Amino acid sequence: MDTIRAIIFDLDGVICFTDNYHYQAWKELADAEGIYFDEKINGRLRGVSRMESLDIILERASRCYTQEEKEQLATRKNESYVRLLEKMSPRDLSDEVKNTLDTLRQRGYKLAIGSSSKNTKKILKQIGLDGYFDAVSDGTNITKSKPDPEVFIKAAEMVEEKPENCLVVEDALAGIDAAYAGGFISAGIGDAASHKYVTYPIHTFSDLLSIDKL
Ligand code: BG6
Ligand code: MG
Repeated sequence: MDTIRAIIFDLDGVICFTDNYHYQAWKELADAEGIYFDEKINGRLRGVSRMESLDIILERASRCYTQEEKEQLATRKNESYVRLLEKMSPRDLSDEVKNTLDTLRQRGYKLAIGSSSKNTKKILKQIGLDGYFDAVSDGTNITKSKPDPEVFIKAAEMVEEKPENCLVVEDALAGIDAAYAGGFISAGIGDAASHKYVTYPIHTFSDLLSIDKL
């Protein structure tokens, strides 16, 4: 097996938890439009881009929406979501995650973010990790969202490493699909731990420190 030199972390559900804010913002929109939406459907939005998330929600709509209407809905949702993100602070970064990141850095790994979110930089700032990572690849520099590997390939390029020398850390099934498609080894937490293509299933973030190759 190849040597790991860089670690690419998904953001939402791995470094911090924004699921509930996504849920609240989508729920407000779905209620206003009279579309059924629940936490189970919200689970399907993990790792998926904003517009693709909206398409999943609109599966339950009683009418078709034009592209222009969809863009307006996505903008409305994002405005609510960004307002909710204002509540986040460095307290939303757990000691476990911060200490693990610091230890991995001390061990000499390059650390990068690979997230579908266009709000990545804002979230990193809110939780006190602005400028912490060697590279940030996110929803603003990609054309295809997970399960396409583009976001991770761009992150690997930014840290000047080949995919086979990077470990991707993910909580979403779409994220493990993306890592596998791009030729990355992966560590999966939560739902992603049971994905058939995950290399290292982990229960908690600090389990990364026990992976034999790290
Ligand atoms: C991912 C989340 O990180 O970002 C998804 O897991 C979300 O649920 C996606 O839809 C896009 O986020 P944003 O912030 O660009 O709307
Ligand atoms: Mg995630």
